[in-house]
Amino acid sequence: MANSLLITGASQLLTLRGGGPRRGDSLSDLDLIEDGAALVRDGVIAAVGTRAQVEALPGTRGTEKLDLGGRVVLPGFVDSHTHLVHAASRVEEYQLKIQGASYEEIARKGGGILNSVKKMRAATADELKKRALAALQQFAAYGTTTIEAKSGYGLDVPSELKILKLHKELAAEQPLEIVSTFLGAHVVPEEFRKKADGAKRYIQLLEENLLPAVAEHQLAEFCDVFCDRGAFSVAESKRVLQAGRQWGLAPRMHAEQLSRTGAARLAILLRAASCDHLEQVNKNDIRALGKSDTVATLLPGCDFHLGLKKYAPARDLIDAGAIVALATDYNPGTSPTLSMPMILSLACTQLRMAPAEAITAATINGACALRRDKQVGSLEVGKQADMAVFDVADYREIPYYFGVNQCWMTIKRGCVIHAAKESRN
Ligand code: NIG
Ligand code: FE
Repeated sequence: MANSLLITGASQLLTLRGGGPRRGDSLSDLDLIEDGAALVRDGVIAAVGTRAQVEALPGTRGTEKLDLGGRVVLPGFVDSHTHLVHAASRVEEYQLKIQGASYEEIARKGGGILNSVKKMRAATADELKKRALAALQQFAAYGTTTIEAKSGYGLDVPSELKILKLHKELAAEQPLEIVSTFLGAHVVPEEFRKKADGAKRYIQLLEENLLPAVAEHQLAEFCDVFCDRGAFSVAESKRVLQAGRQWGLAPRMHAEQLSRTGAARLAILLRAASCDHLEQVNKNDIRALGKSDTVATLLPGCDFHLGLKKYAPARDLIDAGAIVALATDYNPGTSPTLSMPMILSLACTQLRMAPAEAITAATINGACALRRDKQVGSLEVGKQADMAVFDVADYREIPYYFGVNQCWMTIKRGCVIHAAKESRN
């Protein structure tokens, strides 16, 4: 007998049916069903519609039932950009930033990513795992059901492999889906900076030692590069991403965050899965992204946390036809949040995205960025039963109530993985 669950009592059920990627006006199409219901079989959606439609189906009688009591249901969030595994916060830098130091000044003095690298190298796999598991529970508590996770705080062979192996272990031991990305090219590590040709030699290490090991043990699906001032140039990024592709890793990029380098154009040229950040894109970049299949992933948590005024031009990107996604960029340096609802709030007030557009960007378009849009990101027959239930009556209240967690229940593959202790109703 198949394991079935009949879910009813959704005042609004946002299916986001109709496939992805979503561009332009289709970002606003949530396919909202009032008094919605869904039938789940073996973790997969077997039916979705109004309560009357779903209850009329043969085989719903006698199944286990879950009544959502008039709350709002949407696909679980797909957070397509996180630096899940890191050893500690960088709260000391937060204080410096508040006093006026910039992210790049702190990085030049050996803080920033290199600060996290020191802490990562000193940490045991057990310590890292404990911290990551606690974070994963929090992701689930905010309605996220799939995340991407990047390496990039190890920057030597043992430490990068330590992180990537953890991704695999964590994926096997807890319910959230983890899509692993190799970010060996985050910055040039300290020990290579002292040498002439340090960046070149480090890239050789990536090509000759790290990428073969990553591929051999199937530790990552994507290869990412931080292409920016103070990190890797466009030419260096191209070399790393092409090497990654030779080992079977699809490219994605950190692009146009601190300065405009041409990284987004490279991402498009290489048919990267996504290019992320994009605060500094110019008009031509926007036009090119509008015509490309590379997802434009916006990370407003970074600008908020760093206190920067210049957010990515979301409206122009949407108008140009770009596939806009939203993600947390959960990391200790620029965006220490794992709350997708908070990202939706920032998307609405700072990026001027409508609540419906923000939800689409955080679900089906995030799934496209991870090349998982056939499995997750919308509530459709045959897809995974991944849902976030919010204790609100109208979906627009999800971003409206900023900084508080209204997530009442999270369901992954038909199993409840988070339930709020108390409810207001
Ligand atoms: O996405 N920009 C590069 N990487 C991260 C920041 C990493 C850090 O500061 O630790 C980001 O913002
Ligand atoms: Fe990042």
